[in-house]
Amino acid sequence: MTSQPEILAPEALHHVTFTVNGAAYEIDVPARRLLSDALRQDVGLTGTHVGCEHGVCGACTILVDGRPMRACLLLAVSVEGASLTTVEGLTESGDRLGPVQQAFKECHGLQCGFCTPGFLTTITAGLRENPDPTEDEAREMIAGNLCRCTGYQNIVKSVLRAAEIAGSRQARPAEGSLVEPVETTPETGGDA
Ligand code: FES
Ligand code: FES
Repeated sequence: MTSQPEILAPEALHHVTFTVNGAAYEIDVPARRLLSDALRQDVGLTGTHVGCEHGVCGACTILVDGRPMRACLLLAVSVEGASLTTVEGLTESGDRLGPVQQAFKECHGLQCGFCTPGFLTTITAGLRENPDPTEDEAREMIAGNLCRCTGYQNIVKSVLRAAEIAGSRQARPAEGSLVEPVETTPETGGDA
């Protein structure tokens, strides 16, 4: 006698609200949905990469309320009300690259780029805690993230360069803000 296939009940969905890079999102997901999958599939932000799904490689690292966390080790339902930052949120206003992004570009801190989103978020959080790291401290900052391409030398250089860029941006406002507002009078061509 052949057994009948088991008919599974539809999976219950849970309503979750959070912000990602300052924008509010509401999603309905099964209790077992990983945050990394929710970000990529339900929110549509594919910058967060998924490598090992075991918390080992760091590719999925995002900031949860400012702290770096493995999105593959969190369930989406567990971040109700949280403020998340993904790699897409590191770009500054006016589409200026954030300090860590700029440093990776200048120092050739990536090759294939698969690991890069996790490094960028990890280093962003690391520099907030230690804005002026030594080379050893820079190595320690990235010790939890794996890269299969670069040999880490240029990533370490990028950490040190990012610290310089962040420091100089704090000391000097963004270029646009250095421009004094011009009063609009009929003489300067403004609307009367
Ligand atoms: S995918 Fe999350 S740590 Fe590797
Ligand atoms: S740049 Fe390829 S894995 Fe890091």
